[in-house]
Amino acid sequence: MSVSILVGIQWGDEGKGKIIDVLTRDADMVIRFQGGNNAGHTVEIGPEKFILHLIPSGILHKGTDCVIGNGVVVDPLALKKEMEDLRVRGIDLSKLQLSSRSHLIMPWHKLLDKFKETKADPSKKIGTTMRGIGPAYTSKMARTGIRAVEILDKARFETHFREELADYNTTYVPLGAEKLDADKAFAEVWEGCEYVRPYIQDSVVTVHNAVREGKKILLEGAQGMFLDIDHGTYPYVTSSNTTSGGACPGTGISPRAVTDVWGVIKAYTTRVGEGPFPTELKNAEGDNLRTKGGEFGATTGRPRRCGWLDIVASRHSCMVNGVDYLAVTKLDVLDGLDTVKICTAYRIDGVLTENFPADTEALNRVEPVYESLPGWKQPTSAARSWDELPENAKKYLNRAAELLQAKIGIISVGPKRDQTFNR
Ligand code: GDP
Ligand code: IMO
Ligand code: MG
Repeated sequence: MSVSILVGIQWGDEGKGKIIDVLTRDADMVIRFQGGNNAGHTVEIGPEKFILHLIPSGILHKGTDCVIGNGVVVDPLALKKEMEDLRVRGIDLSKLQLSSRSHLIMPWHKLLDKFKETKADPSKKIGTTMRGIGPAYTSKMARTGIRAVEILDKARFETHFREELADYNTTYVPLGAEKLDADKAFAEVWEGCEYVRPYIQDSVVTVHNAVREGKKILLEGAQGMFLDIDHGTYPYVTSSNTTSGGACPGTGISPRAVTDVWGVIKAYTTRVGEGPFPTELKNAEGDNLRTKGGEFGATTGRPRRCGWLDIVASRHSCMVNGVDYLAVTKLDVLDGLDTVKICTAYRIDGVLTENFPADTEALNRVEPVYESLPGWKQPTSAARSWDELPENAKKYLNRAAELLQAKIGIISVGPKRDQTFNR
């Protein structure tokens, strides 16, 4: 039996989808535990490229149970579209289930996200994915959210839907938010609800049966450590616990059942949206990483901000997540550079620190202290074992692991399934 949690330990887009796909080879069940369709998890198999938003990245392995856990916020229309797109491409969805306890993203959540990002105070812009994530989690915490279980009773769902919609129109339309027509909105949303209804199950029961039967279970995180509502660069974060600790409430699995934690880390750092990014390269070096790494958002297409590997941040992340093994991705993007850099400390207002500060303002004043290592000219993308890596690439990885005080378990040298090997 094993229950493994896999999380991103930077600002998201570390390559979690790819690593989940690789690990699913040996798994019976994959469960998403937080976030929603703000996530974009890419899996490339041969010539085919899939981008999963809500559906676990294990879905491409036929026969694997895939669960959208109770901690996820689900837009029924987005889920319907994702399911339809996968079906057209021949992907079997018979093993998919949606937790009856998951909360739904409703039309007013998406409009509120848009309103707050575009019409309210521009200095407060977060740079969200505009998918309604924050407002949906706000409703959940305010105890006014609508859960998937309510879809099972149309009349009850409709009553609750109309109440919440009216509340939105009354509260936010006078402030300038877009007005919703209740009949039209309900008709649209119900189409999505009807489509996903057959997949709704009490996932706490199915997941517990799997644990009891000794199945191999993977818990798939979305976003990354520094987008966590508690541990991220607040307020420039998402609205859920993206760290490993979020996996238990988001699935109903006891912390005592968890066997190990995987931390996915890109060989450099990226971030999408607003907020501090100490090692960001606003120059040709950053542009080079963006171009070579194809660093454009899998969900919104926005260019990702790029920078060097940040050990201060990632070490903090390993600590909070309790990382047992690292999966290092996109090593190949660093191929050909004369020098690669690792940030080993921050200087803030002249004071040196190796700790990640809580103060977001202070993070904006960080001067990174770098250690430079020689780069490597030989391409890594054809390597299929540690021994086949260039010496300087090995030195880079060893130095990073040493500074992070963590073990490297997997190395990824390209987007394809087979461009992966164990340390
Ligand atoms: P996720 O959100 O963590 O699943 O990551 P994304 O899918 O948003 O972004 C990762 C991107 O890098 C995707 O386009 C992947 O296909 C790609 N990718 C993953 N691993 C590697 C790798 O080792 N090398 C390269 N070059 N690309 C990779
Ligand atoms: P995956 O799972 C990278 C970022 C947004 C924004 C902030 C809040 O693919 O790694 P939200 O829409 O969640 O309220 O936006 O979080 N963000 C992500 N950045 N990868 C993601 O997911 C992200 N999901 C949200 O850009 O800065
Ligand atoms: Mg992504």
